[in-house]
Amino acid sequence: MSERWSPSSWRDKPIEQSPVYPDHAALGAAEAQLASFPPLVFAGEARKLKRQLAKVAAGEAFLLQGGDCAEAFAEHSADNIRDFFRVLLQMAVVLTYAAASPVVKVGRVAGQFAKPRSSPTEVIDGVELPIYRGDIVNGTEPTPEARIPDPRRQLEAYRQSAATLNLLRAFANGGYANLDFVHQWMLGFVKESPQSGRYREVADRIAEALDFMRACGIDPESHPELKTTDFFTSHEALLLGYEQALTRVDSTTGDWYATSGHMIWIGDRTRQLDHAHVEYARGVKNPVGLKCGPSLKPDDLMRLIETLDPDNEPGRLTLIARFGADKVFDHLPALVRAVKAEGRSVVWSCDPMHGNTIKSASGYKTRPFERILQEARAFFEVHRAEGTYAGGIHVEMTGKNVTECTGGARAISDSDLHDRYHTHCDPRLNAEQAIELAFLVAEELKKERLARGPRQVIAAE
Ligand code: PEP
Ligand code: CO
Repeated sequence: MSERWSPSSWRDKPIEQSPVYPDHAALGAAEAQLASFPPLVFAGEARKLKRQLAKVAAGEAFLLQGGDCAEAFAEHSADNIRDFFRVLLQMAVVLTYAAASPVVKVGRVAGQFAKPRSSPTEVIDGVELPIYRGDIVNGTEPTPEARIPDPRRQLEAYRQSAATLNLLRAFANGGYANLDFVHQWMLGFVKESPQSGRYREVADRIAEALDFMRACGIDPESHPELKTTDFFTSHEALLLGYEQALTRVDSTTGDWYATSGHMIWIGDRTRQLDHAHVEYARGVKNPVGLKCGPSLKPDDLMRLIETLDPDNEPGRLTLIARFGADKVFDHLPALVRAVKAEGRSVVWSCDPMHGNTIKSASGYKTRPFERILQEARAFFEVHRAEGTYAGGIHVEMTGKNVTECTGGARAISDSDLHDRYHTHCDPRLNAEQAIELAFLVAEELKKERLARGPRQVIAAE
């Protein structure tokens, strides 16, 4: 695919999952307005993320990517953003300790609004309606009017992304991410958890490590970098008109960047080699994720890698495996081997959510915690067996105490789901389940570290 690329060249390709806007003039006006707005992120930040992901690809860091399945206009409060950020930091501290290496923190946030759907319509109370495609496209209300794609929603999504990003930057740099606070929150979690015995050991060890650092004079007062953190945003680049409007040339390098977020990914339903979404992503220099589901064959994956990362640039490509707990061993080893055989430098990350969605007996779309954990463990096991690096996890989670996934230490049951089932799309881990998953993944990271033997420190950076 050596044809010329432009931010609009995707328009000449077949496209899946694209909403049909009845009002073309309004769509054109919204896209023109977006194109006149400032970028949401700066290309230099996307390059920084790429450098950090290059370390993940080299086995020297771990990727934690998480957030809502779909952000919602009706749930745009400071509390929501703060609670999400806080849980992600708590997960990160547990994983940092377990991996004994930096954790790259990437939110599914500040732009995660457009959703691919399995069916173009749904039947509610006997009426067939166009499907909800995310707040950036249409509304969730079960009426034909609400489901009409409305281009003005793209402007609202931009506004919400800008405000969210602004607060996240303030939290990341303004003192909220202080390692001492994060540690205290994590201890609070351990104390409250019904499984606290299991998590206490790691929590105590982290406390000892911090005490030791403090005794050596390394604390947030003397080392202000311990009060800040790098935090990046990501979303599925599904709504390509919106993405195109925010695609800009970086004046320092002359390269094109998606400025809607630091990292974008291609979903499992839109990864056809010669179609629009791959065409768009191949031309921007951001880090790019590619969802890898059960229908992806090794040959197809290698062609996608060649197209999306022709220079084999470390940090460019993150392969996000999402097979379903009982399908990992059937699919992942062949893909991992093909990538390894070609000497490709990629980040391998595990999305243990999207292959494990079921309909519960009470009719809710849910994900059993034990299946999520089983998929994550299988992912690590395959990488241990293949001698490759299990580089990250990608989860749908919220900082709130929702009841959307069953199981976990509090054993949420099918009959509890109706209690606080708030998601607009897929079921998310709640705050406790998310931190719990981090502790359990930490056990896998420790095994991985032991399998690799002691680290060779060659030179300080
Ligand atoms: C998602 O990550 O929200 C998603 C839809 O995933 P997938 O493309 O893997 O189904
Ligand atoms: Co989802």
